[in-house]
Amino acid sequence: MKVELKILINENELKERLKTLGREISEAFNGEKVTAVCILKGAFMFTADLIREMETEVEIEFMRIKSYDGMKKKVDKLLYDVECDIKGKNVLIIDDILDIGGSLKFATKELRKRKPARMKTCVLLEKERKKDFKADFVGFKIPDKFVVGYGLDINELYRDLPYIAVVENNN
Ligand code: IMP
Ligand code: MG
Repeated sequence: MKVELKILINENELKERLKTLGREISEAFNGEKVTAVCILKGAFMFTADLIREMETEVEIEFMRIKSYDGMKKKVDKLLYDVECDIKGKNVLIIDDILDIGGSLKFATKELRKRKPARMKTCVLLEKERKKDFKADFVGFKIPDKFVVGYGLDINELYRDLPYIAVVENNN
């Protein structure tokens, strides 16, 4: 069945918001060099655009986390790790969307063990339902609906769309 998509955030809105986000993040790190950790796959497009709006020097690293349904609860596993030693660095973790918060909680816990100088988190989208994680920077707060585009997928499709769309008939 072909899914029905309705645009929620268009290209222009994304572009404008990223400009302010990039500035705010640069200020929060006092203009010092930042190691951006892009959480794959969903945050790849957001990261590429966001770092171009940042006013600091930027190093780019990637991390991939996979969630499995374990016996009683979801289990997160590190599939791909950053390649540099982040000890003493200014780290910005960049993710696509904050839903319940499991994956970001896992990523921050894992990276904090390695003693970065400072660590902040940034998500493009945050769903309105209650979560057990608070991101330092949020691009847009959105309703509790399934969205795709701009890196986000449904069964690996639609990551290439230049906008964020709600999946209307996701059954
Ligand atoms: P959390 O761990 O519950 O916060 O879930 C975050 C992860 O679930 C994101 O990084 C996405 O990969 C995925 N996810 C959650 N909601 C959506 C959505 O609406 N569209 C696509 N992926 C989603
Ligand atoms: Mg993800």
